Amino acid sequence: MKAFNLIALAALAGSAAAQTHSDCDPTKRDGCPADSALGTEHTWYFNETLDSTIWNMSTGSINYVDDGAEFTIEAVNASTLLQSNFYIFFGVVESWVKMAKGAGIVSSVVLESDDLDEIDWEWVGYNTSSVQTNFFGKGNDSTFDRGAFHNVANADSEFHNYTTYWDQYKLEWYIDNELVRTLKYDDKGTLGGKNYPQTPCRVKVSNWPAGTKEAAQGTVDWAGGLVNYDDAPFTMTVGKVRIQDFHTGKEYTYGDKTGDWQSIKKSLAEKWDDLGTGAHVGVYVGASAAGVLLIAGFMLWCLRQRRKGRLEYALDDARYANERTDAQNFQNDWKQTEWRNSGYRQVS
Ligand SMILES: *[C@@H]1O[C@H](CO)[C@@H](O)[C@H](O)[C@H]1NC(C)=O
Ligand SMILES: *[C@@H]1O[C@H](CO)[C@@H](O)[C@H](O)[C@H]1NC(C)=O
Ligand SMILES: *[C@@H]1O[C@H](CO)[C@@H](O)[C@H](O)[C@H]1NC(C)=O
Ligand SMILES: *[C@@H]1O[C@H](CO)[C@@H](O)[C@H](O)[C@H]1NC(C)=O
Repeated sequence: MKAFNLIALAALAGSAAAQTHSDCDPTKRDGCPADSALGTEHTWYFNETLDSTIWNMSTGSINYVDDGAEFTIEAVNASTLLQSNFYIFFGVVESWVKMAKGAGIVSSVVLESDDLDEIDWEWVGYNTSSVQTNFFGKGNDSTFDRGAFHNVANADSEFHNYTTYWDQYKLEWYIDNELVRTLKYDDKGTLGGKNYPQTPCRVKVSNWPAGTKEAAQGTVDWAGGLVNYDDAPFTMTVGKVRIQDFHTGKEYTYGDKTGDWQSIKKSLAEKWDDLGTGAHVGVYVGASAAGVLLIAGFMLWCLRQRRKGRLEYALDDARYANERTDAQNFQNDWKQTEWRNSGYRQVS
């Protein structure tokens, strides 16, 4: 019974845990911007400054140290949240994490989609020998049977390899190469697949206080009590993250309002071919970094780059060293142009 309650609480708190949020849920609204695809595989070493066009520090800040990036809570109710500007549509996320220790504190690495599908790793700070896995589909957090607990030794003082494998058939969670949990598309808790995570997801990394006076009692209990700020700072360290997108291409859009994976449209780089350079073409420009900026110069640059995705060129990877200057120029252009861009832009 106790175990059931704990799992129930874990499920309850889980959606809060991910700091669940969607700027535009395409299953509820029309005209949401497309999701910029990672479209490749890349490893980010978190001891080097992360490119802000690729990773958005939405809340708080991180501190780069020799073995990674520190996500630290120092002040009452401070929190940290780093989100990828790219999405993956099925794939692999391998994260190397040292959790933050302390009752009420939660370290997390989460995949989350625009319609609030969610795949979680959560380390709850009162227990440094444990990690929790969880999932949500289409924002449905009404049931309490999805969370699971797994043993992991010294999770606060040693990096471990926490890997999620995700495709349309199954979800797998691995700790240090050991498979600790499998969820199939129509397993218990997925509502016959409806609540199986299946839409393009961003990666979110955060360290946040769940044990706050404002939180629901269930959340506080799940978190192991209220945070004792006399013990601050509370630090989570991320060493590196390897992320693989199982699809290639530029962006993902929802073809309808079902939120089903079959409805997701993948636009390929070839779409650039449709744009005549002489014609006046109204092109949608998203308000986020995930949006695609079309200015004539960039189009030409893109075409020159054999129509590969911009993210690929923005990746800090030695293979693309030659392109880096071009990519940097593009990023600068993008930043300068963003603020005066109201949504549509004429390309002539
Ligand atoms: C970064 O995150 C913040 C907070 O969620 C958001 O307001 C902002 O638009 C994001 N920036 C980009 C470039 O996506
Ligand atoms: C910590 O978590 C592990 C694994 O989930 C569990 O076996 C152990 O009892 C927990 N310890 C405490 C103090 O809750
Ligand atoms: C991390 O674990 C995953 C899953 O077992 C594995 O594929 C990957 O190779 C591991 N990474 C390293 C660096 O060992
Ligand atoms: C949410 O999930 C529960 C349990 O699977 C289910 O009974 C309920 O109908 C779902 N709600 C929606 C809106 O799908």
